[in-house]
Amino acid sequence: MTWPACGADADDADACAPDACGAEGGGGGGREADATETGSADPCGGAGGAAGGTAPGEGGAARSAGTDGHAGRRATSAAATNRGATDAGASDAKATSSEATAGDLAIRRGGDGSLSLWSAAFGEGFHSARGALREGRETFLHPSELGRFQRGQPLRVLEVCAGTGSNLALLLEACADRGLALQWWGLELDPRPLALALAQPAFRDPWPPRTLACLESLQHHGRWRQASSAGRMLWGDARQRLEALEAGCGGEPGGAIDLIWHDAFSPQRCPQLWSCEFLARLARLLAPQGRWISYCSAAAVRQALRLAHLHLAALPAPSAPTGQLPHRRQAHHWSGGTVASPRPLAPSTLWRPLTAMEWDHLASGAGEPYRDPAGTASAAAILARRHQAQAAAQARGERSSSSAWRRRWGLERGSEASGTGGG
Ligand SMILES: C[S@@+](CC[C@H](N)C(=O)[O-])C[C@H]1O[C@@H](n2cnc3c(N)ncnc32)[C@H](O)[C@@H]1O
Repeated sequence: MTWPACGADADDADACAPDACGAEGGGGGGREADATETGSADPCGGAGGAAGGTAPGEGGAARSAGTDGHAGRRATSAAATNRGATDAGASDAKATSSEATAGDLAIRRGGDGSLSLWSAAFGEGFHSARGALREGRETFLHPSELGRFQRGQPLRVLEVCAGTGSNLALLLEACADRGLALQWWGLELDPRPLALALAQPAFRDPWPPRTLACLESLQHHGRWRQASSAGRMLWGDARQRLEALEAGCGGEPGGAIDLIWHDAFSPQRCPQLWSCEFLARLARLLAPQGRWISYCSAAAVRQALRLAHLHLAALPAPSAPTGQLPHRRQAHHWSGGTVASPRPLAPSTLWRPLTAMEWDHLASGAGEPYRDPAGTASAAAILARRHQAQAAAQARGERSSSSAWRRRWGLERGSEASGTGGG
């Protein structure tokens, strides 16, 4: 296994080891708060400043939440009424109070008061109504179980869609507390969310200087390196930029990534990052005990993870907001995300096995995966291809319709739209 030394020179544009990024820059060892390197130009491909003006691909935000059941936790537009049926409906008002805008991005606060963004281009918020920090802890950090790793041990993390950097900030602090040597790679198309976040006191306030220094270094140089952690951002379309990490694995099956945090916009909005092909590539990067973790519990995504030979477990649904007693059969009672691993996941209070109803959902039309064989298709093309495949599978009698599945399980119409991403 050649991971993570990818065999490229430190100044190679596609060098993928975070600690290969300008290690000659000085300040890499020793001091912590001021050890973040800022010396040389971004060796990570140089796309950092150029990716603004992100577009989701035609049609990416065109479908209303609820018709095809995207995971929907982030749809906070007035039209996306199933937001209230996702995970924290009562908090929506807090999540949607806009404070500022930058083109198609608007700054908001989540239910926990932490800073989040709304993307008009994707028609979706960056975080659930619970708030960025609460969601980051509950959905990504806790199921990662950092306590599994020994002090001083490297922890290799790939974040798909790093956005504002709030998940990374949580991770940096958690690793510092536990003495873990974080090696982090981020995939992100648009540099503006990180820049916007770092310009806001509300975003900066919770974090110590050492954490902000890492994020600022990522913003300006596409990387950071401190005494005990290193990271680099691979700016650009994740489907293309992932190649740098794959090259680091020498193309061998079986990788060395301990954690993949997958936080793309929901499948109906950004199907490019939930396709069978893309998820299979991520799965190949995982270490045997590695974990892929996401807020998403869409049947199509879970089916794609199965096809990638991962074992699945469901994250519990986030607790209902105070004062709200949602219908007991609504989907947000089922699951608040998915954990997947090359090895079976031991029983835990942090997750549960999929229920018979959820497995049956995977076999219905909703379980038809998104496909993007060349890794270059637009959102609209991927959605259209899936629609055709669903119709064909139904015509052949291979998949039941979502409505038949709903009837089998006595569900309300549309209830699968939120937590399970039906369709
Ligand atoms: C839901 S937000 C990520 C939230 C992030 N984890 C945070 O805490 O701020 C989704 C992110 O995906 C990015 N994105 C959209 N399409 C992408 C693509 N094809 N490749 C890489 N990133 C993409 C967007 O720019 C956005 O920052």
